[in-house]
Amino acid sequence: MTDQLDLLSPTLHRDSTVFITGGGSGINLGIAEVFARTGAKVAICGRQEAKLAAAVTRLRDLGADAMYTVADVRDFDALAAGLETTARAFGPVTAVVAGAAGNFNAPASAISANGFKTVIDIDLLGSFNTARAAFDQLVETSGSILFVSAGQAYSPTSNQAHAGAAKAGIENLMKNLSLEWGRYGIRANSLVPGPIAGTEGLERLSAEVGSDRWRQAVPLGRFGTTADIGVMAAILASPLAGYVSGSQVIVDGGFGLAGFGM
Ligand code: HXC
Repeated sequence: MTDQLDLLSPTLHRDSTVFITGGGSGINLGIAEVFARTGAKVAICGRQEAKLAAAVTRLRDLGADAMYTVADVRDFDALAAGLETTARAFGPVTAVVAGAAGNFNAPASAISANGFKTVIDIDLLGSFNTARAAFDQLVETSGSILFVSAGQAYSPTSNQAHAGAAKAGIENLMKNLSLEWGRYGIRANSLVPGPIAGTEGLERLSAEVGSDRWRQAVPLGRFGTTADIGVMAAILASPLAGYVSGSQVIVDGGFGLAGFGM
């Protein structure tokens, strides 16, 4: 089978600057790598500098102009500073990926008020902060926003009350921004990844369910790859998807059809 990465034009994003929260690892680094392969200038943002520095080295090895800024998405001012630094180095952002997330497995009866708030703050408030801090730059570029969502947004999942509530909120936020910011030429969409091999999310969440059972539950019979998600992100942020806004794009091999989401 042809490798999907070989089909990507290395110039698809030659005029793009993309800012990716949580870009130091996992699905978000996979997204960053596909943007790097398609000519974008890539700025990743996260909390852990060592992780970010290693990721930037990988992105530069792919031939991209890449940089990182350190910020917790719960801190609006830090994010805004990161976006300003990015614009000074690479020009105003044409795409923002709100990917940073926090999660732990716990039954609702064992989640404290602060535990619930923590996940809401990282996932939902952090996604709003990212979009809001980028607004002026996105107006300038008629850019786009991509939220990284999850199956819990529409399929209740045991031990995921906090993340489910946060991701459902993100989906609604995405539609609201799509509605309100369309007049500025800004598009907003969300990506709903299924179980993606080698990610912290899958490791954290599948332990008690058992990876084999999860794999068997995927109609396509395999876990996804970070490239599966990255390719869709690169398409959604490009002119190829110039009329796509307010959409939830599910990239899960059909996993959500099995009824227990991810
Ligand atoms: C119950 C827990 C808990 C657990 C933390 N808490 N872990 N409660 N079970 N396993 C509670 C704490 O007791 C505390 O409440 C509150 O949550 C805040 O915890 P802190 O450790 O102080 O928070 P913080 O340092 O901000 O860390 C946030 C975090 C952490 C989410 C808890 O795991 C983190 O930083 N994660 C980032 C990376 C990550 O999660 N990646 C996976 C993303 S995967 P009290 O009441 O004691 O003060 C993903 C996939 C989504 O998101 C979709 C998936 C399917």
